[in-house]
Amino acid sequence: MCGIIGIASNKSVTSNIINSLKRLEYRGYDSAGIATISKKNLNEKKCSGRVEELEKILFNSPAQGNIGIGHVRWATHGIPNEVNAHPHSSEIVSVVHNGIIENSNSLKKKLEKEGYKFKSQTDTEVITLLITKYLKDSNPIDAVLKSLEYLEGSFALGILFKDQSDIIIGARRGSPLAVGYSNNENYLGSDSYALKAMTNKISYLDDGEICKITKDSVEFFDVSKNKINKKILVLSEDKNETKLGDYKNFMSKEIFEQPTTIKNCLNEYIDKIRNDINLYDFPIDPKKINKIFLVGCGTAYHSCQVAKYWIEELTDLNVETEVASEFRYRKIRFNPNTLYIFVSQSGETADTAAALEIAKKNKMKTCSIINVVESSIARNSDWVVPIHAGPEIGVASTKAFIGQMLVLYIMSLKISKIRGNIDDKNYIEKIKNLKNLPQGIENSLKTEELIQIFAKDFLSAKGSMFLGRGSSFPIALEGALKLKELSYLHAEGYPAGEMKHGPLALIEDGLPVIILAPKDKYFEKTISNMQEVIARGGKVLLISDKHDEVINENIRFKIEMPFIDELLNPFLLTIPLQLLAYHVALLKKCDIDKPRNLAKSVTVE
Ligand code: G6P
Repeated sequence: MCGIIGIASNKSVTSNIINSLKRLEYRGYDSAGIATISKKNLNEKKCSGRVEELEKILFNSPAQGNIGIGHVRWATHGIPNEVNAHPHSSEIVSVVHNGIIENSNSLKKKLEKEGYKFKSQTDTEVITLLITKYLKDSNPIDAVLKSLEYLEGSFALGILFKDQSDIIIGARRGSPLAVGYSNNENYLGSDSYALKAMTNKISYLDDGEICKITKDSVEFFDVSKNKINKKILVLSEDKNETKLGDYKNFMSKEIFEQPTTIKNCLNEYIDKIRNDINLYDFPIDPKKINKIFLVGCGTAYHSCQVAKYWIEELTDLNVETEVASEFRYRKIRFNPNTLYIFVSQSGETADTAAALEIAKKNKMKTCSIINVVESSIARNSDWVVPIHAGPEIGVASTKAFIGQMLVLYIMSLKISKIRGNIDDKNYIEKIKNLKNLPQGIENSLKTEELIQIFAKDFLSAKGSMFLGRGSSFPIALEGALKLKELSYLHAEGYPAGEMKHGPLALIEDGLPVIILAPKDKYFEKTISNMQEVIARGGKVLLISDKHDEVINENIRFKIEMPFIDELLNPFLLTIPLQLLAYHVALLKKCDIDKPRNLAKSVTVE
């Protein structure tokens, strides 16, 4: 999963390529590279590490040129070193690639037999050498089209040609690719976000299409080289542009922004005067829905799991949840009356996009809950419900999770109302309760001081456990995921009721265990599970709105969560867990916004 950029201009492109690569680092940040053409020379500079490193290299040894391509990498084939960094160039061609070439091994063997020499361990280099081979007796477009015929897998490509130094060719199969337009300058990029600082005029390539970009023109072709006309979209200005302000990092900014995230989202969907929810245009009449299927990855999947409890509580519908990487290969019995909902912050996650595609191929009605409204998933869905969280930069998702849960809760409530599963009084009360959520989140954020003290326990811990029941169980999973992502410590999220079936064996003296026990129908049972943990030496942090009802002098810390409405507990439980992961990572001096081995947007399988 990587980010690509290409610029053809009438002036030097290096600094704009670097700026775009910085915007693309959410896709990968283990190595970076650039190739430009000047005076008929291909200049290639690359390095392992961040774009900042590449910038230093370019400072000492500039890569001049009015045309160029750039890349940020998240390693799939070959370790993240300088040789494996993109672009991958031959004497005459330079290629940047996002995706995976699944048959690269067999292609490599064939090319080696023909005498071609490989420098890297990447799958991408086969593309460079195939194009080099076909360029011997054809023009760039024909050579690219011929090469693409041999590739299996997914790709978004940017290609430079030494001997035709005014063009960049882009190609797409599976991985997203956008084109941007400006005066005397045109662009290619993994997404509109990469191009936004330079233009708001964008077109998107569809699967199988290629494009030819010069500083003055952009042409699109299908696989048979027929010309295609593309719509130019004018993107809205991003008022929420990303500035750190007084915060140390984006994650803390995003955590503390959450009361505003909630307010913005409520403003979009709640009619305060009529106490109603503004959600119309369901792709299936909610009265006719027979089941809801929720699909996502990572944190987005956890929001689906929380929603399962809400939908079951509020409606008479069956619900199923599945991670997208499983959904796409399962033998799902698709049903036209089932509403398929795909949840994704970025809207570019490869598995979620593929799962959506499968539902569409089966002629299902699809809904996406996304943050990035210009994303591939949003563009491909029948119904898009944005979470309005603004750009989320920290790799570990925080405010987007809160936004995803909020939209899912609001949607569950609206479906319940339309189906007649909730009476008017209850419906209005639930909507009124939502208005107290921003303040509730604000109060939850005040737990930070205590959390900071508890975080120290993790420095000597071998691992940790997060336990909850009902809708607190997916929050336990999310708490454990946040800790793993940020602090590289082992953490297990578990349904508290499952402890006796194995995980209790992990409890030993001093192991930090986080117990999520709001006063709901599970309260007493969760507290019993907590006592069993304490009896075996677990160091417990109890989070509850009724912690004063729990007596055990061996509880290490109790954190009081505010109470608004039982169904809103997942929001209020989430905040201390985000803060905990954040403070443990801070103590361990981890890179908060860019944890090792991860990427914000996982654009390969
Ligand atoms: C990556 C990110 C996670 C995110 C997941 C799904 O793994 O690091 O924070 O939850 O992808 O991303 P999406 O953009 O589809 O919500």
